[in-house]
Amino acid sequence: DDSLARALSAFRAGDPVLVHDFDDREGETDIVYPARSVTAADVARLRNDAGGLVCAALSDDAAEAMDLPFLESEIDHPAAGDHDLAYDDRSSFSLPVNHRETFTGITDSDRALTITKLSEAADAAVGGEYDAEDFAADFRAPGHVNVLRGAPGLLDDRRGHTELGLALAAEAGVGPAVVVCEMLDDESGAALSTDAAREYADRRGVPFLDGDRIVDSLA
Ligand code: 5RP
Ligand code: CA
Ligand code: ZN
Repeated sequence: DDSLARALSAFRAGDPVLVHDFDDREGETDIVYPARSVTAADVARLRNDAGGLVCAALSDDAAEAMDLPFLESEIDHPAAGDHDLAYDDRSSFSLPVNHRETFTGITDSDRALTITKLSEAADAAVGGEYDAEDFAADFRAPGHVNVLRGAPGLLDDRRGHTELGLALAAEAGVGPAVVVCEMLDDESGAALSTDAAREYADRRGVPFLDGDRIVDSLA
């Protein structure tokens, strides 16, 4: 069974993949979609089957072209002064945004619109045809889709779901934007166990990938 090949075909078809990072990192499994084809039904699946925070990860070059910063360097409050994460050196959070054509921004269709427009913006930004001014004309912050910014060297620099997802998307040729959401356990509220995540993957025909498998093949 070649889980990587299955994951790449899933991405090319606009279907999700489960990505577990590492037992010595978060130890979490995210549902990951290529951002370009995300629908309202996909957002519903993220909130019902995953339950964590819905985020859109953009590559470093796309984020740079649109001048999207890391949030921690923009927050002028002492809470942002000490980045003492237990599992990594830094978070990948950039701005939370909504597309300007959304209403409240939180509904499935509003979030799907913001996500697909972010993907279009990222494609254009990488092509040199979209900048911070264009971004500001199309999106407002704060909003309800959390943008994550990938590390410049992807897996060489950082190995979060942000980079694992973006590396898969690059390999699949589906662009510089993915959506990630953590799978939580409805009973306990804890991160869903890896066994339970694998079971979900089998039951639903979704490819399951370990961070190690992605790093071994793509780093
Ligand atoms: C946003 C997060 C998640 O962990 C998400 O998987 C992206 O972060 P990372 O790249 O650190 O894994 O914090 O909900
Ligand atoms: Ca749930
Ligand atoms: Zn994560």
